[in-house]
Amino acid sequence: MKKILITGGAGFIGSHVIRLFVNKYPDYHIYNLDKLTYAGNLSNLTDIENKSNYTFIKGDITDEKFITELFTTISFDSVIHLAAESHVDRSILQPMEFINTNILGTAILLNAAKAIWKETQTAKNVFYHISTDEVFGSLGQEGFFTEETPYDPRSPYSASKAGSDHLVRAYHHTYDLPVIISNCSNNYGPNQFPEKLIPLMIHHIKNNKPLPVYGKGENIRDWLYVIDHARAIDTIFHHGTHGETYNIGGINEWKNIDLIYLLCNIMDKKLNRPDGTSAELITFVKDRAGHDMRYAIDPGKLQKTLGWSPSLQFEEGLSLTVDWYLENEGWLNEVTSGNYLKYYDQQYNKR
Ligand code: NAD
Ligand code: DAU
Repeated sequence: MKKILITGGAGFIGSHVIRLFVNKYPDYHIYNLDKLTYAGNLSNLTDIENKSNYTFIKGDITDEKFITELFTTISFDSVIHLAAESHVDRSILQPMEFINTNILGTAILLNAAKAIWKETQTAKNVFYHISTDEVFGSLGQEGFFTEETPYDPRSPYSASKAGSDHLVRAYHHTYDLPVIISNCSNNYGPNQFPEKLIPLMIHHIKNNKPLPVYGKGENIRDWLYVIDHARAIDTIFHHGTHGETYNIGGINEWKNIDLIYLLCNIMDKKLNRPDGTSAELITFVKDRAGHDMRYAIDPGKLQKTLGWSPSLQFEEGLSLTVDWYLENEGWLNEVTSGNYLKYYDQQYNKR
């Protein structure tokens, strides 16, 4: 049985990747390694937690002794590495957590993989690092990020992800470690922690709270449904070329304010409110420090070489996402029950 370690599998994207792999590949054993930070939640995985080809391991990727022992004990064939601190606003307030987990944690995993594959490296070994388009910096009104775009990270989050990408590439060039990297645009869908734009807005519209729009709401993001990202990860993991990078994106750019109006319209209909009710909650607030203006991915390489393309139109994906949040009130209450957004109250007065 192929033993695959997926890190960060209790988080948003990781839980969708775990579900896809556990169900689609009964001959793989999937190990989910997660520290269960505020962003990790095992209730994301209740439908597969008892499957015989799935094991959860609670642990921290920055704990070198623990990681070294884990790799020695289990001898994973491959690693799909998603564990990270992932929220830009938090990275502005607490950069060291991002530097520790995203850079140091990735280095510790690379060393552990290198150590166990050194003597016995086979074609089934791969260290696949899941990264972000934010490493490329910010675009003006024109152009797209390609795999050749030079790195120009501008927040502590994106700089820490860029640092980890560089380490992954360095281990390939220096030690011949079989690696793949993919850089994806903004994901949305079920199970996203309600600090990111779309679930935060859904949560606030439902509860009649102000909708905090940073600056003038003119920044642009390129949105991809999370299950399409998980499908892309599956395709790249199985068919990608070692040493290469793949950009993943939905060819779906939205100005934040337009997206928020669209969401308000969808929510008015689903909540049987008169048209325009939710949009009255829109509140312009202080801009994010160093706020990148525009991200847009050219996923041409992935489409042409590996045949992947997004399956869902944005309106359809957004409608499914809103339904999921409205139907899973218990999940929302559970993840928002602590003082998880206390720092937000101080910075943006969001609650
Ligand atoms: P998330 O914050 O929802 O989940 C991160 C997971 O990592 C959580 O389960 C958390 O408990 C775990 N984790 C954090 N620190 C850890 C540590 N030290 N040891 C072990 N586990 C730890 O993040 P996400 O949005 O699902 O993103 C997953 C990955 O995809 C990240 O690497 C992120 O950079 C990348 N990414 C995210 C997006 C996006 O739009 N969300 C887009 C492109 C790339
Ligand atoms: O591009 C990929 C990246 O997308 C991932 O690597 C990150 O992990 C992920 O968090 C996301 O980063 P963003 O900063 O783009 O996502 P966020 O949802 O935080 O913000 C999206 C846009 O909405 C951004 O322009 C800031 C704005 N925004 C966000 C929040 C939370 C608001 O206007 N108000 C808000 O309350």
